[in-house]
Amino acid sequence: MSTPEVTLQLSSTYEHAVGMKELQNANLRRLMDPSVAAIEGFVTAEYEVDFLVELQKVTPAVIAMCEGKVVAYVIAADREASAKHGLLSDMVEQIDSRASFRGKPLRGEPFIVVAQLCIAKEFRGQRLVPRLYQYYADTYKARGFSMSVTTVAKANERSLHAHKKANWETVADLEFNGVMFDVIVLPF
Ligand SMILES: CC(C)(COP(=O)(O)OP(=O)(O)OC[C@H]1O[C@@H](n2cnc3c(N)ncnc32)[C@H](O)[C@@H]1OP(=O)(O)O)[C@@H](O)C(=O)NCCC(=O)NCCS
Repeated sequence: MSTPEVTLQLSSTYEHAVGMKELQNANLRRLMDPSVAAIEGFVTAEYEVDFLVELQKVTPAVIAMCEGKVVAYVIAADREASAKHGLLSDMVEQIDSRASFRGKPLRGEPFIVVAQLCIAKEFRGQRLVPRLYQYYADTYKARGFSMSVTTVAKANERSLHAHKKANWETVADLEFNGVMFDVIVLPF
């Protein structure tokens, strides 16, 4: 039997947003067994479907589809959209106030934020992270952004490892609600 094809595209429909939300719910740290989260990775932020729909009108997510289902996503948010979500706006505020990249404060840089990355369990370990980020970088470079910034919980070693392999660089540490994060940057 041949392996079903995984194709990348930008999110554009309500069903895409629902598919992303389902994947997010299955990987929320607060609902996961800690020992599974330590091995598989986890997500922290919670985005409602309506917010995902609002985001995708301006800065669509990159999604991976297989047999009609969303099997992975990279959610993008610009500064304006980030300001509408508590956790994202705190993140951007902290990045602006403390992080630099190659000697330049990020405050002045036209960056796009990765609001979340997630891959369905059965699609992990298949080089989807670099594929998703290549598509993402091509998309947002063409829209005038020079880099992307995000945070990854230090406890999520799998994600930190995957990001490093996809050319993300650590530029600072942050603490939110007692949890330590790396601030990481992907130059386009
Ligand atoms: C994190 C995630 C996106 C990584 O994607 P992936 O396809 O699983 O990535 P890989 O399996 O290729 O793993 C990346 C690297 O980490 C290594 N790795 C796997 N498990 C690990 C672990 N528990 N700790 C440290 N490194 C680990 C892999 O060996 C691989 O390195 P290698 O290519 O040198 O062998 C995916 O696991 C996921 O979506 N997890 C749930 C949600 C999540 O954590 N999202 C990210 C939030 S910041």
